[in-house]
Amino acid sequence: MLELINAVCGYGGVTALQGITFEVKAGQLVALIGANGAGKSTTLRAISGLVPLRAGALRFDNEVLTGARPPRILKAGIAHCPEGRRVFPHMTVEENLDMGAYLRSDRSEVAADRDRIYGEFPRLAERRKQAAGTLSGGEQQMLAIGRALMSRPRLVMFDEPSLGLAPNIVERTFAIIRRIRDTGTTVLLVEQNAFAALDMCDHAYLLEGGRIVLSGSGAELIANPHVRKAYLGA
Ligand SMILES: Nc1ncnc2c1ncn2[C@@H]1O[C@H](COP(=O)(O)OP(=O)(O)OP(=O)(O)O)[C@@H](O)[C@H]1O
Ligand SMILES: [Mg+2]
Repeated sequence: MLELINAVCGYGGVTALQGITFEVKAGQLVALIGANGAGKSTTLRAISGLVPLRAGALRFDNEVLTGARPPRILKAGIAHCPEGRRVFPHMTVEENLDMGAYLRSDRSEVAADRDRIYGEFPRLAERRKQAAGTLSGGEQQMLAIGRALMSRPRLVMFDEPSLGLAPNIVERTFAIIRRIRDTGTTVLLVEQNAFAALDMCDHAYLLEGGRIVLSGSGAELIANPHVRKAYLGA
């Protein structure tokens, strides 16, 4: 479904991705794990067109999207739930959700999707007219997830969705991500919590220093001695 091929990108003099190639198959939950600074967020930014590729290619459902700007990537069906939640703090919960659907013109369907998200996250429904910046961290995370789903993506990318959340909220967030995959949306997940990500994924890649150094099923990576020592604290 998604293919990134020999992708090189960076910031000024820093090369963050040194030529990475990987694939996300339709219907799968694919995990991307790695240490701080490995290039995980940069990979997601490269896919969503926020950071240009210096070399390499991006394909999605046989459409070449190399060099495409963020609106075209979104239109193609890829949504990005960025690191650090990044809701629009001065806009209401409802306005934030509607921003996720800004490229859609089917207003009644958008309203139905919004209601579905309120059903999933009753806390957001109660706070629909409240400024997003006044929500708790967990509530902002729910809003960021809901906003990403408002574009009706075929692939949704989550960057550190569990960061800063209380354990029970982390569990709920992971359950929601699994459910998104189970209802047919393909997921690319970046997570610091390597064990949780490997445990729930269909396939995983390990990124080190801007390179993919290992790939396999979650179970294979969990069993790998290097992964166990460096990422699972075993
Ligand atoms: N805006 C930026 N300007 C300059 N360098 C950057 C920028 N963003 C990231 N980098 C550099 O690119 C490299 C990869 O960063 P990236 O944010 O992709 O890592 P990450 O794997 O997401 O790390 P973390 O787990 O800490 O979120 C790092 O060396 C980082 O310092
Ligand atoms: Mg990151």
